Amino acid sequence: MLDKINSLKAEVEALTAGDAAEVEALRIKYLSKKGIIPALLVEFRSVPADQKRAIGVAINELKTLATDKINALRESVETQAAGSEGLDVTRSAAAVKLGTRHPLSLVREEIIDIFRRLGFTVAEGPEIEDDWHVFSSLNFAADHPARDMQDTFFIQRNPDVLLRTHTSSVQSRVMENSKPPIRIICPGRVYRNEAISARAHCFFHQVEALYVDRNVSFADLRQTLLYFAREMFGPETQIRLRPSYFPFTEPSAEMDISCDLCGGKGCGFCKGTGWVEILGCGMVDPNVLEACGIDSKVYSGFALGMGIERITNLKYRVKDLRMFSENDTRFLDEFTSAH
Ligand code: DAH
Repeated sequence: MLDKINSLKAEVEALTAGDAAEVEALRIKYLSKKGIIPALLVEFRSVPADQKRAIGVAINELKTLATDKINALRESVETQAAGSEGLDVTRSAAAVKLGTRHPLSLVREEIIDIFRRLGFTVAEGPEIEDDWHVFSSLNFAADHPARDMQDTFFIQRNPDVLLRTHTSSVQSRVMENSKPPIRIICPGRVYRNEAISARAHCFFHQVEALYVDRNVSFADLRQTLLYFAREMFGPETQIRLRPSYFPFTEPSAEMDISCDLCGGKGCGFCKGTGWVEILGCGMVDPNVLEACGIDSKVYSGFALGMGIERITNLKYRVKDLRMFSENDTRFLDEFTSAH
């Protein structure tokens, strides 16, 4: 009987099948109730006791071998079938659809890049802030209207926990924690309690720049602004500074650039003036330096802040601010870029 089992082992090892029906036929032949292997088990009953062990082991081995072999054959005919019917290995791959950068991200990166070339490094601060960093350290008087509920989102009616209304708060955090020279650029999201319309939103984005060192002058500020404007809007761009007021700068100014739509002649976009306003700036008020632990007799500095939506509007003529946060892919898909 051992010889018979061994020759069956050799036979099973050499089995082949061309399709699923042939595999099934083999399963029935060897493993089904009336198949060859179960028949061996019946025969096994009459094996003399001293041979039972050896023959029992051999039958078990044969059974495992046959089961494994038939399973392997089944798997291989199934993959072959899939190959011939479902899988076309010569087909070229479907193109992967790439997303696009958000226009605000493109403009933010471009602004950062320009300032980086002047030696500025990126600094960030929290969006949930306290009164000190958003207002008090920046020389806002206790009754300054910007602190008003109408502008600022306070959290849980606690006047000391609020959403920052400008990125100037990052200035005071960095000045508190580092020594001049300081040259930082601070991009971030800010919040104001405004009714949402085409021209105003309850959140938007700003970039703040701050430079503090010995002998920083208004001329340094002006030259930095001119460099920025020409890098951002083209080498022909002109700038002009108009006197203004911010609590944290003295003197303060607002910067306009020549309207790039009409080249300064005056058009609908610049309301006939030839100029469009793009940012606020000034020399850091000595009170601010002192509040943040910097000796205002030794150091001076300039700061500037701009809205990223505003710059994006000027670059890409996006008329309605709400477009930036509606995630309409027809709008977003227009900003494919090499960046
Ligand atoms: N924080 C101002 C705002 O939100 C913008 C600004 C103006 C920032 C003048 C500055 C600055 O750093 O010097 O409107």
